Amino acid sequence: MCGIVAYIGTKEAYPILIKGLKRLEYRGYDSAGVALMNNGNISLIKQKGKVSELEELATKASITGTLGIGHTRWATHGPPSQINSHPHISNNGDIVVIHNGIIENFQSIKEELTRRGYKFISDTDTEVLPHLIEEIQKKEKCALDKAVRLALNEVTGAYAIAVFSKKEPNILIGARKGSPLIVGIGETEFFLASDASPVIEYTKKVIYINDEEMVTLNRDGNFELKTIQNEEKTPNIQELELNLESIEKGGYDHFMLKEIHEQPKSIYDSVRGRVDLTNGKIKLGGLEEYKNRIMASRRIVIVACGTSWHAGLLAEYMIEDLARANVEVEYASEFRYRNPVIDEDDIIIAISQSGETADTLAAIEMAKQKGCLILGVCNVVGSSIPRASHAGCYTHAGPEIGVASTKAFTAQVSVFFLIALWIAENKNTLSKSRLNQLLHELEILPSKIESLLKSCEEKVKAIAKEYKDATNFLYLGRGYNFPAALEGALKLKEISYIHAEGYPAAEMKHGPIALIDEEMPVVFLVNNISSHEKTLSNVQEVAARKGQVIAIARHGDTQIKKLAKHVIEVPDTEDCLSPILASIPLQLLSYYIALERGCNVDQPRNLAKSVTVE
Ligand code: G6P
Repeated sequence: MCGIVAYIGTKEAYPILIKGLKRLEYRGYDSAGVALMNNGNISLIKQKGKVSELEELATKASITGTLGIGHTRWATHGPPSQINSHPHISNNGDIVVIHNGIIENFQSIKEELTRRGYKFISDTDTEVLPHLIEEIQKKEKCALDKAVRLALNEVTGAYAIAVFSKKEPNILIGARKGSPLIVGIGETEFFLASDASPVIEYTKKVIYINDEEMVTLNRDGNFELKTIQNEEKTPNIQELELNLESIEKGGYDHFMLKEIHEQPKSIYDSVRGRVDLTNGKIKLGGLEEYKNRIMASRRIVIVACGTSWHAGLLAEYMIEDLARANVEVEYASEFRYRNPVIDEDDIIIAISQSGETADTLAAIEMAKQKGCLILGVCNVVGSSIPRASHAGCYTHAGPEIGVASTKAFTAQVSVFFLIALWIAENKNTLSKSRLNQLLHELEILPSKIESLLKSCEEKVKAIAKEYKDATNFLYLGRGYNFPAALEGALKLKEISYIHAEGYPAAEMKHGPIALIDEEMPVVFLVNNISSHEKTLSNVQEVAARKGQVIAIARHGDTQIKKLAKHVIEVPDTEDCLSPILASIPLQLLSYYIALERGCNVDQPRNLAKSVTVE
């Protein structure tokens, strides 16, 4: 939800900002803008649309300056337009602000400032900030940093901001509450950004700003970190592990395709160092300290949103099946507001690729207040959810940039497979030999994905061509493949804008069956063994109504071939891992259908990868 990047130093700021914005575009792409301190004046260029459109405009304007801020927007208050784009500037033309988050009390601040004669030109909540800072500076006759601090004490809601003023051209200010912000520390230069991607080729030294902290960066190389209550903080400077290669397309047309193809590696990385196959042991370093509490807990409650919620549903199936522990899965946005019955006997596990999803973060904060142990299963190292959790496991899938989640999902599922087996091992719910068998299957999963990617891609492309004009799709599966059906349908919706629904196959007869006619593609996930016969009966029911059956089935499944129009074969595996294999062709199917329809695969309309508003 909005990306911000800022620079102060000796280099030209604009190339750094524009490159940074391109990397942050996954966070929103409704409009983009930059402001630079240009020979004593502020040059402000903003534009509805993508960063590339801003770039065209800015190139013509040939702006220079060594202090600047840039923003890519995901619209909340006010439609995407030039006026609503950031940066926003104060009435006196001195102060520019970019913002990620929502100022919840903007209406009352706006009314008060309007009474005092301030003119608002946009519909955004953000615009109150530059005007409020100007008003405070006028009243208090103070420096920019004090005015920003006082302003932040008046606002409620979430923010990551970057601010500079024409009157103090050697100062750049950043602050955060609820939305991410990092500081990159160079030789005699500083960066501010929503994540590390705009910074990595310049410096590896970063500080993750905490909630209600504000940093004042001085061109002379000094900086000051304080809370917005004006208490000094000791900065925790950390070394970035990210590398440039991992955030580039690496020869693929889209990040999504690259990320689909990375899955043999990302799954391997998510498991690496966590399994001792010789002794049949699982090592989850992050959880060890809380082992007794986890094993003694009454219930595990998983909270997540979107694709991560689907991984959570699979986690429930796995943990209950393999470890016989009680699990519930909740949409974070519902859980946080519905007064759930939870206490210190419950373990909360938050799943999040970005580690920044506002609802998930708020849900764990609420559960923490009630005494629950909070564990995080996240992908982005150093993000807010892991920092707000007591412990957890990173998924180590590497940066995921395509807005539709692919490799992060399968890495989440493989980490939960390990968590399920770790609990099973500790609770003795599986025999040693069964545990070893399952671990072995996980070990060979990356090579199975490798061969599946090779064997199915051309077939999936042909199927995508055939169904590119469909207006609806159904995805059906049972048992472990029901969550994978939900995820398959979500992928198609997200990037191709075709309406798709995932359903438990047996539930079809309670409603969705009414939709089936000769036009309706129905994707059946039948590659799990346990409910195979029963799912085949559901396939029969669809075929009898002339639905177009596309099946994901195990190699050598002769029965399905008689019923389905298309069969995409996947390797055999354990049922609990079958949804990972089923997901691969489904990701490719949505990718190729979206491509056929001319959709923007990596940046689908209206979506953003990191949802930092509730
Ligand atoms: C957004 C993204 C989804 C993602 C969801 C949850 O909606 O577009 O791909 O699944 O947020 O994000 P998280 O980072 O918490 O997994």
